[in-house]
Amino acid sequence: MRSSAFAHPNIALVKYWGKSRDHPSHLNIPTNDSVSMTKESINTAESGIDLITHTTIDFSDQYDKDMGFLKSDDDLVPFTEIQMKRILKVVDALRKIAGSSLRFKMMSQNKFPTAAGLASSSSAFAALATCVSNALGLTLDNVELSKYARLGSGSASRSLHGGFVCWNKGDSHDTSYAEQICPCNEFNISAVIAVINRDEKAVSSDIGQETAHTSVFNPVKIREAQKQAVEIKKAIQNDDFTTVGQISEKSCLYMHSVMMTSDPPLFYWNPNTLKVIKAVVATRNQFLHTYKTIKKGIDQKEKDGIECYFTVDAGPNIHCLCRTEDLDEVQLMLQGIGIPEKNTVRVRQADYGSKVVDQHLF
Ligand code: DP6
Repeated sequence: MRSSAFAHPNIALVKYWGKSRDHPSHLNIPTNDSVSMTKESINTAESGIDLITHTTIDFSDQYDKDMGFLKSDDDLVPFTEIQMKRILKVVDALRKIAGSSLRFKMMSQNKFPTAAGLASSSSAFAALATCVSNALGLTLDNVELSKYARLGSGSASRSLHGGFVCWNKGDSHDTSYAEQICPCNEFNISAVIAVINRDEKAVSSDIGQETAHTSVFNPVKIREAQKQAVEIKKAIQNDDFTTVGQISEKSCLYMHSVMMTSDPPLFYWNPNTLKVIKAVVATRNQFLHTYKTIKKGIDQKEKDGIECYFTVDAGPNIHCLCRTEDLDEVQLMLQGIGIPEKNTVRVRQADYGSKVVDQHLF
């Protein structure tokens, strides 16, 4: 009973950061709704980054224990005990509903840096839930599977779907699920990721989030996120890029304010993160200034700057959100501040989040 899946990571526009303390922690019930875009990379050859996770799992009575491996081009490393524990949260829950006691061998490959703020856990656990369910002969739809991906990693629940996705926080295993709110390409937005550090982050998001409740700003962030999720859904459906960009930046800053004021404080940014953030704000201000002062009759080409916005997850890398037609200009702007093309990843919306494929890793 072997099955494989591909899954794309997602970038949160309204952020999840913090699990509800009113529910058992293993359920990963978040404190607020979150909204994301499932993404795939465009310039994979130049950046060496392909935003996709490929996972294969085989259940068989030939195996006397559960085994998992992380595969790279030239290496095969067994998952650590901590990583296996997370994997087992998803597999055990699905084994239970399938009534199976078979052991497994599993292999997973990320075609991009693992744990460096490019949301590898989102695609990893989405791919896992999809291939486990398929291998066990279950026929769960992607909304149902999002609940199982959530058990491994919260943000993974959103990677079951393509396009734009909302994870409704809910208040139980059954009511905390992700659903698509807008299909791919019905809203015009893309992004350039400035990859300023490919190393594994020092504090993983599951550990970092444990202290979110210690920040005095956390209740405000939770309250605002609930409003932002409602507003951003409307803005996405109305193709209102300005509102989506403004909400995304605010949500990112509220989350990082919570991180920085938690006990102990958490700083995911480095000096280059701030350099890119400032450049994004400067080019946007230039755009808004020319846009406001532009007189009727002046050629549109005289407009200067770019309408773009930033968002940063739990790492130093920045997503510069822009309209698809502005991708070249955003990349040039990043080159102008010393971020070479090889350290940027252009991303577009992915039309699927996670799906079963015929290619197997073993
Ligand atoms: C900063 O989903 O990685 O990317 O549920 O503990 O696995 P766990 O955390 P994870 O949290 C990432 C949060 C974020 C924002 C977001 O994706 O909403």
